[in-house]
Amino acid sequence: MNHLAEHLAQGFSQTPKTLSSKYFYDATGSRLFQQIMGLPEYYPTRTELAIFQAQGAAIGRALAAGAGAGQPLAVVELGAGDGLKTKLLLRELQNQPVALSYVPVDISPSALDELAATLRHELPTLPTEPLAAEYGAALTTLATRPGAKAVLFLGSNIGNFTPAEQVVFLRELAQPLTAADRLLVGFDLRKDPRRIRAAYDDAQGVTAAFNFNLLHRLNAEVGADFQLDAWQHFPDYNPSTGAMRSWLVSRRAQTVRVAALAGQTFEIAAWEAIQTESSYKFTLLQIAELSAGAGLRVVEVFQDEAGDFADVVLAVAG
Ligand code: AVJ
Repeated sequence: MNHLAEHLAQGFSQTPKTLSSKYFYDATGSRLFQQIMGLPEYYPTRTELAIFQAQGAAIGRALAAGAGAGQPLAVVELGAGDGLKTKLLLRELQNQPVALSYVPVDISPSALDELAATLRHELPTLPTEPLAAEYGAALTTLATRPGAKAVLFLGSNIGNFTPAEQVVFLRELAQPLTAADRLLVGFDLRKDPRRIRAAYDDAQGVTAAFNFNLLHRLNAEVGADFQLDAWQHFPDYNPSTGAMRSWLVSRRAQTVRVAALAGQTFEIAAWEAIQTESSYKFTLLQIAELSAGAGLRVVEVFQDEAGDFADVVLAVAG
């Protein structure tokens, strides 16, 4: 049985029914996410870019500080996507006295191919080893590759994990790291709840299309028969917990049949909601506690002037 069909069976056996946001990123989904990053409502990408533009040199120094002069430094990026922001950091790191290489890891082969193509053109002297895989494969790279590493986990990708998963994942990331290594994690911070919610409910409907793409994918890849006109994109934000969530709500009762699950059917009630994504928002205190819980120490915090977003340099504790 294919992964996606297995995931559907597993996710639809839960209450509420759940699908993982990692399945957003087929070629169409990756393109839609690139469009999202340019939307007026979606502030995280341009805010993190502004942090890199204003403070990139200091971030570059902090990331290379553990590697000795002339020594290798591998930048391993989890969820590299189109690498727009990372190129800025890579240029800064090229000014550091280290032997730099870049290992972009992404679940989307198409996004990675495009990134590799632009890098050959824009940073032609940088040794680049793209890895089309889930995050787990990056952990293996971290554990087996000799030399210092700078691990990048940008864009508040960490917000896709629940708080319990966040600490487990950071701990796994931290485990193979040595004193020479640094982690740079981007966190979207708490702010006006209406602004947060609007970032996931844009006027042009691109985020809705991104969410619906999951159903398109299921219809195309596992022979499901979701009625695409019967769903509504519904984002909700809880300002108390920082949980930004996206739902697909069924506007009528429907039965979905899945060919790849031997024709198994699922009943969906009118107005039933499937959870498709969490995008948690953080406080600086939470970031400190999360890091400590994962065996990491906060080396330096870089923020934009409005305090909308934080890029945090971490190293193994003690
Ligand atoms: C790529 C996971 C950081 O959660 O903000 C954007 C994905 N989803 N709009 C996010 C997303 C809806 C994004 N991350």
